[in-house]
Amino acid sequence: MPITELCTEEEIKHLVHSFYAKVRVDPMLAPVFASHVQDWDAHLPKMVDFWSSVLRKTARYRGTPMPTHAALPGLTPTLFERWLELFRATTAAQPNQAFRERADEVARRVAQSLWFGYQLYREPDREPRALTSA
Ligand code: HEM
Repeated sequence: MPITELCTEEEIKHLVHSFYAKVRVDPMLAPVFASHVQDWDAHLPKMVDFWSSVLRKTARYRGTPMPTHAALPGLTPTLFERWLELFRATTAAQPNQAFRERADEVARRVAQSLWFGYQLYREPDREPRALTSA
C-alpha cells in the first residue's frame, strides 16, 4: 500500500528557512536569537531535522529542546506567543493544507509544553500559567 506523505523535505526546508528569516528581523524575537544563536548554519539544519522528524517521522533529530530553552534567560509568555504568531504567519502561506494544520498543531503543543517546563524549571514554587494564544 503506498504511503501518503504529509509533506516533502523541500516543504519543510522552505517553512523552516522562511520562519527564521522572519524571526531574525522581528523586533521582539530577533534580539533573543541574536544573543544565543552563534551559528545559523548549524541551527537551521537542526530545525529542519526537528520538523522532519516530527512531520515525516525521519528520526533525524536527536536533541532535547527542554534544557536548551530552560537555559535561556528571560523567556516570557509574550515571546512564546509572538513565536507562534510568526510561525502561523509562515504556515499560512503554505498551499499544502494538511501540512499547514499539522505543523500549527505541533508548534502549539510544543510551545505550550516548553513554556510549562520553563516555568517549572525557573519558578518551581509558582503555579504555571498557560499560553493564552495556544
Ligand atoms: C519564545 C520562544 C522561543 C525562543 C526564544 C527560542 C529560542 C531558541 C534558541 C536561542 C535556541 C538555541 C539555538 C542554538 O543553540 O543554536 C533554540 C533551539 C531550539 N528550539 Fe527554540 N525557541 C522558542 C520556541 C521554540 C518552539 C515553540 C519550538 C518547537 C515548536 C522550538 C524548537 C527548538 C528546537 C528543536 C531547538 C534545538 C534544541 C537542541 O537540540 O539543542 N523552539 N530555540
